[in-house]
Amino acid sequence: MRKILITGGAGFIGSHVVRLFVNKYPNYQIFNLDALTYAGNLENLIDIESNENYTFLRGDITDEVYINSIFKKYCFDDVIHLAAESHVDRSISDPLAFAKTNVLGTMILLNNFKELHKNNWKGKRFYHISTDEVYGSLGENGLFKETTSYDPNSPYSASKASSDHFVRAYGETYGLPFIITNCSNNYGKQQFPEKLIPLFINNVLNNKPLPVYGDGNYTRDWLYVIDHAKAIDMVFHRGNIYQTYNIGGFNEWKNIDLVKLLCKQMDKKLGRSVGSSEKLITFVKDRPGHDLRYAIDASKINQELGWSPTVTFEQGLSETIDWYISNEHWLKNITSGNYQNYYMKKYK
Ligand code: NAD
Ligand code: DAU
Repeated sequence: MRKILITGGAGFIGSHVVRLFVNKYPNYQIFNLDALTYAGNLENLIDIESNENYTFLRGDITDEVYINSIFKKYCFDDVIHLAAESHVDRSISDPLAFAKTNVLGTMILLNNFKELHKNNWKGKRFYHISTDEVYGSLGENGLFKETTSYDPNSPYSASKASSDHFVRAYGETYGLPFIITNCSNNYGKQQFPEKLIPLFINNVLNNKPLPVYGDGNYTRDWLYVIDHAKAIDMVFHRGNIYQTYNIGGFNEWKNIDLVKLLCKQMDKKLGRSVGSSEKLITFVKDRPGHDLRYAIDASKINQELGWSPTVTFEQGLSETIDWYISNEHWLKNITSGNYQNYYMKKYK
């Protein structure tokens, strides 16, 4: 039985990846390692938690002793590494936490993988999930390619860039068989409501202001999380080792246009008068070091592996809003306690 360690599997993207692997590959043993920080939520995985090929391990990737013990105990064949501190705004207020988890945590996993397999790499892979933010910011034109130089601007993207460099360095130095993917902005169900789309859905539901940073003319390339999980499945099985693949939605939106679309869809779904949610838009102080534009050239993964997004943005956004409307208990559970403190400090 192939034993795969998936880190960060209780988080947003990780839970979609764990679900896909557990259901699609009954002959794999999937180990989900997660520290259950504020962003990790086992409720995301209730539907598969009692499957025989699924094991949850609660632990921190920066805890060397613990990580060493589970590598020895379970002898994982492969790692799919998603655990990270993932929110740019939090990285601005607490950069060290990002260096610790994203850089040191990744190194501890790499070291343990290297020690476990001791150059016997046949059939093994260490798959590192990264972000397009490592490339920095684009102007009005152009796309990020796999060959674009790294130029990160936030503590979050600098920590992810650094972890990517370490992964590559382990490949060069020790021959460790890695793959890296750099993906654009994901959206979908079960995303923590600190990120733009779920935060704004939650605020519309509660008639709270929609805090648009700066003038709102920042551009992101949005991808439905299910399409990202499918790409991860393809790359894990058929991607070439020592390679990077960019993943994106070919779907650029200026923040302000996206927010207006979201408001329009929500008015309709909630039976509110046209334009009522848009009135909640409030322009607030800009994010420091705010990257103007991200856009991915995903032609390599398309040509080599045949991957392309399957869900249109209008459809994916509509399904996402529907999920949050029918799962208000999920939102209520995680927006109590610590989240309230974060929210009050940041937006009030
Ligand atoms: P998330 O914040 O929703 O989830 C992160 C998960 O990692 C949580 O379950 C958390 O408990 C866990 N975690 C955090 N620190 C840990 C630690 N020290 N030890 C063990 N577990 C820990 O993040 P996400 O949005 O699902 O992102 C997952 C990965 O994908 C990250 O590596 C992120 O950089 C990358 N990524 C995210 C996006 C996006 O749009 N969300 C886009 C591209 C790449
Ligand atoms: O590009 C991939 C990255 O996308 C991932 O690596 C990160 O983990 C993920 O958080 C995301 O980063 P962004 O900073 O692009 O996402 P966020 O949802 O925080 O913000 C999207 C845009 O919306 C960005 O231009 C900032 C803006 N924004 C965000 C928030 C939370 C606002 O205008 N107001 C807000 O309240």
